Amino acid sequence: MGVKLGILGLGTVGTGTVQLLQNSGFRHPLLQLVEISRVGVRSLDKPRAVTLPQTVLTTDLEAIVTLPEVDIVVEVMGGLEPARSLILKAIQNGKHVVTANKAVISRFGDEIFTAANQAGVYVMLEAAVGGGIPVIQPLKQSLSVNQIHTITGIINGTTNYILSRMQTEGSNFSDVLADAQQLGYAEADPTADVDGLDAADKIAILASLAFGGRIRLEEVYCEGIRQVSKTDIAYAEKLGFVIKLLAIGKRISSSGAISITVQPTLVPKAHPLASINGVNNAILVEGEPIGQVMFFGPGAGAGPTASAVSSDILNLVAALQTGTSVPNPLLTCGHQDYCQIVP
Ligand code: NDP
Ligand code: HSE
Repeated sequence: MGVKLGILGLGTVGTGTVQLLQNSGFRHPLLQLVEISRVGVRSLDKPRAVTLPQTVLTTDLEAIVTLPEVDIVVEVMGGLEPARSLILKAIQNGKHVVTANKAVISRFGDEIFTAANQAGVYVMLEAAVGGGIPVIQPLKQSLSVNQIHTITGIINGTTNYILSRMQTEGSNFSDVLADAQQLGYAEADPTADVDGLDAADKIAILASLAFGGRIRLEEVYCEGIRQVSKTDIAYAEKLGFVIKLLAIGKRISSSGAISITVQPTLVPKAHPLASINGVNNAILVEGEPIGQVMFFGPGAGAGPTASAVSSDILNLVAALQTGTSVPNPLLTCGHQDYCQIVP
């Protein structure tokens, strides 16, 4: 039995995902069962880097999420609305959802996960944090026996790319931002990257998973890199530091109080996060009894993000084929945590 996808969005991530799926049969036999039923876009006239039958591309995204033949809706369109409403409608229509949209998950996770549990469908979000780095599932699964006390991350590829090039080449902020946009790393509105909001969304998701609570975006102290100058970087260098946009989630008391921050930070050159350059991300997790674990890899871009999106699709296909549950599902237990209990 084939599994039909309705994909919302054919930009950087959507295109990378379609390319991966169209060429992935040799990588995993189960992906041969996947059929792209519809792909929703804003404009039918835009040149596309992938070839799809004419009947597949549509501007009617509402129709995709209600189409009976669609089993899985892949939301890679970004933004809050209509992405949130389309995800909810897909869920209400019994579709499993894969999303790369950290903004929607961070702000509307409760609503989405509650709806998913009621409908008995899964919502998967590996691509929402860390681009191609598998971090969501490991946090929820392999590390779940630990008491995590700190997560320290470089979790925005665009700002790390900008800061790295300012550091190594003395480049101007605006020139490098334009390159990051050109390379497909930045959000449609790069303000979210530059002002730290994208990292804030991501650390809110990671902290919710790691600390077992529900962190809201407004609880994250957030400062971006707009004020970081080449002079700051040069002085930091002289003093033996690099400047990184760090997102930190930390238990600060035994009663369970948590501090969550995103801000440009002086990192000693010998620290493992100091050498994470370019679009790469890294997430350092510290807990008991594990000690320190660091996840590292490409934090944005078409190929890496498609890898994460497709791994979620693969997990869903495997579950649909065998009639079993998705291993280590995410989502909500009584609004407290992202740990799914369906179907
Ligand atoms: P893009 O801006 O490149 O692509 C967005 C796509 O969605 C486009 O195909 C666009 O159509 C379509 N779209 C957007 N809004 C609408 C709408 N209202 N109606 C119809 N179609 C719409 O975004 P990305 O691929 O970069 O990002 C997508 C998501 O993935 C975001 O949530 C982002 O945060 C997340 N993400 C991105 C990563 C990256 O490296 N870029 C990495 C990890 C996550 P059209 O092509 O016609 O304009
Ligand atoms: N704009 C994001 C970044 C994409 O630069 O990290 C990956 O989530």
